[in-house]
Amino acid sequence: MKVAFFSAKSYDKSSFDQLTPDFNHQFSYFEAKLDQDTVYLAHGHDAICTFVNDHLDQKVLKKLSELEVKNVVLRCAGYNQVDLKYAKSLGIRICRVPAYSPEAVAEHALALLMTVVRKTHKAYNRVRENNFSLEGLIGINIFKQTVGVIGTGAIGSAFCKIMLGMGCRVLAVDHYENKDLKKLGVTYCNLDELFNQSTIISLHCPLTPETKHLINDKRLEEMQSGVAIINTSRGALIETKAVIKALKKKKVGYLGIDVYEQEEDLFFQDLSEEILQDEDIARLMTFPNVLITGHQAFLTREALHQIALTTLNNLNELESGKQLTNEITFKKA
Ligand code: NAI
Repeated sequence: MKVAFFSAKSYDKSSFDQLTPDFNHQFSYFEAKLDQDTVYLAHGHDAICTFVNDHLDQKVLKKLSELEVKNVVLRCAGYNQVDLKYAKSLGIRICRVPAYSPEAVAEHALALLMTVVRKTHKAYNRVRENNFSLEGLIGINIFKQTVGVIGTGAIGSAFCKIMLGMGCRVLAVDHYENKDLKKLGVTYCNLDELFNQSTIISLHCPLTPETKHLINDKRLEEMQSGVAIINTSRGALIETKAVIKALKKKKVGYLGIDVYEQEEDLFFQDLSEEILQDEDIARLMTFPNVLITGHQAFLTREALHQIALTTLNNLNELESGKQLTNEITFKKA
């Protein structure tokens, strides 16, 4: 297939180029994000390949359909950026990479957690300036903390296991209970209990209308004072303005985020020469107990290889008309 590849970065190109000789697909790599202005780049291709901030909304999908591009392969697991109902009505088929390396994301959540609670981000800068003082660097143990995990799918399960290994009590909320996790010692509970009891909360559920602003003023009030919140899932799970208020009141003791509600206009780009217009992220960056990474939790060699391999296999299945292993499609509630 001829594939228009949007939001292409050097690491994407490198991982796909390593595997493409074994597959019969040709890629046109475009740095541009997919939107109404760039969708025309798909002209003459059989499929498009997109990432998390490439929006497949009605206007883009309609244009794709007019260009007779009926195949979409997402290089990611989450698909909140896709209007599945409209895509289905146009006969556009969409596949994703459901799990490329859940451990990559879970380990990044751990990295965020360990950094904020042990203040290694501050220590790193201090030591580089020959400041070996320990004042202000007191951390907390992870051992014996109560960790609340929201969403125990592929990534949440991996995170639960890491936390159990560190000697924590792990509470979890999901629509489906994972029997293996229960056997390992995870306790399923409801959201009220999780928010009340956890000293560390990590978000691993998808962004849906139900989970948007799951962390809001009311929920923050219910939490333990000084709670650590980690979000490697999707930015809009947290209402940014509410968490800023909670950080100011010291209700939230630590915040580690790899995703941000307004990340679309910021992440995956070098804006170091620009004037930052986003007041909320600017405010977040002023807190010493907040650590932000730019949606890099997936970014390991192993994960990139798996993303490329699954995407190429998804294209094979789309081309051959076989049953689609990783199709996502609109289902009536
Ligand atoms: P998954 O589909 O394996 O697991 C998601 C789990 O969340 C499921 O068990 C589901 O039942 C549960 N869930 C759904 N709604 C819920 C709710 N309202 N409350 C509690 N649980 C709920 O997905 P996976 O692979 O574990 O990924 C989780 C999320 O991580 C993705 O949706 C994506 O947004 C994010 N992600 C972030 C990456 C990054 O680089 N930062 C990379 C990959 C995924």
